[in-house]
Amino acid sequence: MRHVIDKRVPAHPVPVIRIRGLTKAYGHGDATVHALRGPSDPETGAPRGVSLDIEQGDFVAVMGSSGSGKSTLMNILGCLDVPTAGRYLLDGTDVGHLDEQQLALVRNRKIGFVFQSFNLVPRTTALAQVELPLAYAGVRTAERRRRAMAALSLVGLAERAGHKPNELSGGQQQRVAVARALVTAPAMLLADEPTGNLDSRSTEEVLALIDGLNATGRTVVLITHEDEVARHAKRVLRLVDGQIVSDLRQAPVEGPPPFLDAAYTELAAGPAGAAGVAGAEVPA
Ligand SMILES: Nc1ncnc2c1ncn2[C@@H]1O[C@H](COP(=O)(O)OP(=O)(O)O)[C@@H](O)[C@H]1O
Ligand SMILES: [Mg+2]
Repeated sequence: MRHVIDKRVPAHPVPVIRIRGLTKAYGHGDATVHALRGPSDPETGAPRGVSLDIEQGDFVAVMGSSGSGKSTLMNILGCLDVPTAGRYLLDGTDVGHLDEQQLALVRNRKIGFVFQSFNLVPRTTALAQVELPLAYAGVRTAERRRRAMAALSLVGLAERAGHKPNELSGGQQQRVAVARALVTAPAMLLADEPTGNLDSRSTEEVLALIDGLNATGRTVVLITHEDEVARHAKRVLRLVDGQIVSDLRQAPVEGPPPFLDAAYTELAAGPAGAAGVAGAEVPA
């Protein structure tokens, strides 16, 4: 009998996110709030925790009403908080085994954060904002500048590099925040209500950018309570009382997100976008 060695790469590489039996409880005794609990054990009623895999290249929207556990989940996925129980593997690394310093490194290298409130530094140019995570990572000045400019081009803001937050529209500020999140070439982009403070035009602008980033291979996890925003994702999770109650696939992981719309095409074809949204390399 002949033995054939299968040299193909596995069909499913390590998921970016793998969580198993994850719970988060606040408070003690009767006052305990199970912010993340998953299904209950049928015998004891104890929380079994949330389990979930997110593949590389996926675009996942996490939905749920206020208090359902979205931010708790986001904070754990972003290594900003630790679970009460359960395991979390980020890009194959069990983050439960890391100390505070190692977690800070993981946050800097593997995760790009985008927040509802932009969190830009006042009176600081777009270029300097985007250079900041590279400064923390110890990248030298010239290289920092080069990568930050590449990230700003990627979001279509190269010619606004010298502008401060108060000289930019809300949508442009959020795009600077996206460039800052991407400049370290993270394994995933985590966005908590990134369009929550934007008008409808800027919302389209930022969603088009996120669509384009996902189309060029970046994994995106986006928290939102708006159906209009969730329509952009390939997969939609719904949380109720700390439990995933539905998990809907809207588009395959491979291939473009479902809503590569006219606004995206416009942005990608625009003056800065030509080298920008669609075709540019990940700043490495
Ligand atoms: N630091 C905290 N201390 C006590 N309870 C908290 C804390 N953070 C969140 N919670 C509770 O956990 C639940 C989930 O909260 P959260 O994750 O912020 O929900 P969402 O982001 O979906 O609005 C809520 O009942 C909330 O009151
Ligand atoms: Mg929240």
